Formats: sequence, structure tokens, C-alpha cells
Amino acid sequence: MDELVLFPIVEIKVKQEIEQLGTKEKYWIYCQEEKCKKLFKIGRPNTGEDWAEVAAYEIAKLIDLPAAKYEFAKYKNSLGTVSTSIVLDNEQLIHGNEFLAEIDNNYPVNKFYKVKEYRLDTAAKIVSDIDEQYPNLSSLVNFIGYIVFDCLIANQDRHHENWGFILKQQGKLSLAPSYDHAAGFGCREQDAKIAERLVTKDKNFTVAAYCQRAKTPFYDKRSQRLGTLEACKLLGSNYPEQLCYWLEKIATIGTDDIRNIFARIPNEFISEKQRLFAQAILKENMTKLTALKKEICQNE
Ligand SMILES: Nc1ncnc2c1ncn2[C@@H]1O[C@H](COP(=O)(O)OP(=O)(O)O)[C@@H](O)[C@H]1O
Ligand SMILES: [Mg+2]
Repeated sequence: MDELVLFPIVEIKVKQEIEQLGTKEKYWIYCQEEKCKKLFKIGRPNTGEDWAEVAAYEIAKLIDLPAAKYEFAKYKNSLGTVSTSIVLDNEQLIHGNEFLAEIDNNYPVNKFYKVKEYRLDTAAKIVSDIDEQYPNLSSLVNFIGYIVFDCLIANQDRHHENWGFILKQQGKLSLAPSYDHAAGFGCREQDAKIAERLVTKDKNFTVAAYCQRAKTPFYDKRSQRLGTLEACKLLGSNYPEQLCYWLEKIATIGTDDIRNIFARIPNEFISEKQRLFAQAILKENMTKLTALKKEICQNE
């Protein structure tokens, strides 16, 4: 068996410019030698927000989903992650809410949750329209990839500033790689609750029940908030080919790949309970997504 190598922890020497967007404390770091920009983000205490970012990035790599790179990081005694900027010099990240506001003057750009106007069909249409202008940039298939990925990792936080487009120098727009997965894998659940969930006989408290209840921030045309699997199904009705592309990718993930990722997370970032819970969530969601593939995809 290959020797297990823990994920490295990048040491931050100086925190530079503060990033105001989002809710967590974060700073841009400019690294001269590598000519790059990295965002140092500090996960909240008593949560697994840091490992969730790194695990999500590693899983995204398994299925070739474009995602910002996340590594563990430390500044003095503060643990966090660094993510390499997905925006090059001369490029701009424009968030989803700006596009939604373009088609609806009253769109609540500064409200992040319980936004009934935040509809999945509308967002997918925005991406699909841009895809028609720049088809070789694969924005639509990647957007559907985000939604499938969110279902896989139980990420409920794909609000309208947690995705967007990169405006390139020549004026071209393409969907940005996925970022901000700090709400995935039930990483904010406390150990005592996790322990109970892992062994409970109460059907409403199992890992399966937890996954079943996972919701996206998106709404459907009946103003119902969409569950993570429901969102995939809805996209499947309009874009079956793109959905099946990702469902097939998910089916290639091995239990060993997942075990390996969680075993490589240093102990100072994750508890044993969190390791088990995250893997149980993934197993449950992989089963659900594989069943969906059987139901709707050809080649079955
Ligand atoms: N890797 C990245 N490259 C470029 N911009 C980023 C990157 N990660 C985050 N951002 C920007 O910073 C904002 C806040 O970061 P995010 O990870 O979403 O933090 P929070 O968890 O506090 O919401 C994002 O909405 C995005 O605009
Ligand atoms: Mg965010």
C-alpha cells in the first residue's frame, strides 16, 4: 500500500489586503515568486469549514470539475485555508447576483437566503445564454457540474455570490471555477450530534435523513426551495445530456479515493467523528446520484 502523506499546511508570513465579501475573515496574500494571488480564509471555530474546503477541492479534482485550489494554511495560531485566485490580472469576477439583477430590476442583490427570486431555471438560462455566445468555454455544463457537486457534498450554500463569471480581457465571459465549499459535508455539525446520527435508530436523525433534508438556496417556479437532489432532477429535465455527463463522472469515484482524501487531513483540522460523518454523507449521496443516473441516463 502507498504510504499516506498528509496534506501540507502552507505557512502564511504576512496577511495583506482584507477581502470584504462573504462572512468569514479573509486576506489576500501576494506571493512574488509564484506571481500569484491567494486568499487566506479562516474557518469559524468549532466547525470543519477549513477541511471542507480542501476535501471539496480534492473531490472536484476526481471528477474534473473546475474548482479553485484550496490548501491548508496557518498564520501564527490561526488555522485556515489558502485558495489560489481564480481571477488573473486583467480579469474580473462578476457574481451571479449582478446577472440576475440585469434581467430583474427589483432583484434583491444584497439578500443571500430565502430569496424567492433566486430561481434555478433562471440562473441556468443566464448561463445557457452566455454559453451560446462562447460555446467552447463550457459554462453551462460546468454550472450543472456545480449543482451535482453540491448534491454530492451536501453543500447548501450556492447563493448568488458563490458563483459567477470571469470577464476576460477580450470581453469573453466564462463560468468561474467553483469556490466556497465551506458549508459542505455537514462540517458545522458538532461531534456529539454526529456520534448520535451515526448510530441512531430514529429514522429522522440518520445520515440518510440529514442528506434528504439538504437544500439549495435556489427556488423553483412554485416558490419552493429546491432540495439538492431535486435541483439535479430539475436540471435533468432541460439539460439531460449535461446532467448525465456529471452523473457518469460521479459513478467513477471509488470509496478508496474518498477514504484516502479524508485520511490525509491533519488531525489539527478534523475530528474522527467528522471524518466518518463526511464519508457517510458522500456514500449516501453517491447512492442517490447513481440511482438518478439509472433512472434518466442512456447507456444504462
Ligand atoms: N479563489 C478565489 N479567487 C478569486 N476570488 C475568490 C476566491 N475565493 C473567493 N473569492 C472571492 O471572495 C469572496 C468571498 O470568498 P468566500 O470563499 O465565498 O468566503 P465566505 O465563505 O466568507 O463567503 C467570493 O464571493 C469571491 O468573490
Ligand atoms: Mg461565499
